[in-house]
Amino acid sequence: MSKAMTLLAVVLVSGGWAQSVMAADPQYARSLAATCFTCHGTEGRSVNGVPPSLAGQNKDYMLKQMLEFRDGKRPATIMHQHAKGYTNDQLELIAGYFASLTPGRATPAPAAR
Ligand code: HEC
Repeated sequence: MSKAMTLLAVVLVSGGWAQSVMAADPQYARSLAATCFTCHGTEGRSVNGVPPSLAGQNKDYMLKQMLEFRDGKRPATIMHQHAKGYTNDQLELIAGYFASLTPGRATPAPAAR
């Protein structure tokens, strides 16, 4: 086996390859963020700001809120439970995704029109 092949095998076995591919895939960030759309609106644009719109939020602010929800430092009705399901890396991807979006008018769900 060549040196390159051995290295590849080590990376594959350790799972490092899959991790770095996921982090580099913009669809991965969006699919994580999509779980938030139900309440915070499609692409993070909520109807009348309830719960708050996430599109265009400051990344650092949002990441801090998520960590505080997860660690029980910020009281919540829902978010402390929801935030528990994510690793720090995933929360950073989610915050980065919403920060990259432009705020805008929400489109209400068909049933709410
Ligand atoms: C079941 C509905 C629901 C889902 C799903 C949900 N949220 Fe929330 N979110 C809320 C509610 C309600 C609040 C207000 C705080 C509370 O009472 O929990 C909130 C508050 C927040 C806040 C604080 C906003 C601010 O301006 O301080 C952030 C950030 C946030 N959510 C991010 C997310 C992210 C990221 C996801 C997806 C991983 C998500 N939420 C999924 C309902 C939800």
